Amino acid sequence: MRKKLFAANWKMFKTPAEATAFTEAFFPLVAGHKSAEIVLCPSMTSLGTVIAAAKGTHVHVGAQTMDYHDNGAYTGETSPVMLKAIAATHVILGHSERRQYFNETDTTVNLKLKAALAHGLVPIVCVGEHREERESGKTNEVLELQIRIALEGIDRAAAKPLVIAYEPVWAIGTGLTATPEMAADAHKFIRAEVAKALGSELAASTRILYGGSVKPDNAAALCALEDIDGALVGGASLDPKSFNDIIQNGC
Ligand code: G3P
Repeated sequence: MRKKLFAANWKMFKTPAEATAFTEAFFPLVAGHKSAEIVLCPSMTSLGTVIAAAKGTHVHVGAQTMDYHDNGAYTGETSPVMLKAIAATHVILGHSERRQYFNETDTTVNLKLKAALAHGLVPIVCVGEHREERESGKTNEVLELQIRIALEGIDRAAAKPLVIAYEPVWAIGTGLTATPEMAADAHKFIRAEVAKALGSELAASTRILYGGSVKPDNAAALCALEDIDGALVGGASLDPKSFNDIIQNGC
């Protein structure tokens, strides 16, 4: 039985004051709803504020990226050790915006995944195809490569917390969503690839989230599909009511 997970990726939005306004409105809405795992991923400058606000609630807080070194002369970066030290619990890795604008590659995702698992962070590894790749029938090829390299050399025993997010790049922030059929096919394929890399037992317990224009009105249809275990939400997670509606409808 996989517990549904709903993660808010706020991207580069919300100052600490705006994050506080969100948490003050959001926590009462989800207080009675404990059947899903809920994670807020603010920007680095709001991480401490949101972690302090979430103390004593069942809401988790994670980062949107991290470096794979424990420490060192890496100007501008944040390490898994630092995230653990402030009680962050999750980290998003390999988001397509990181891949597109900040040179993240399958190889660095692999290094970051190993570091996250070694330091007890729950990694949410993002994979997904571009529009041209889907249109030319290469979706599975792209997903296969991203997953194979991301999971290379990962120790099965340590991989239990692994979460994967399928985010078709053409559906991010565009209002376009994968049809339930496309999402179902991709999630099934991803689970089979995880099984190849880490064994079928682990694949059966790995949560695979859908991301890409998830809204209150499409969350139920997507999350009802067998291999969809929740959502990674961008734009619609910036508003407490709409993120709460996604969680309620998706459970
Ligand atoms: O990580 C979440 C994401 O990229 C989807 O963004 O705005 O389409 O929900 P959005």
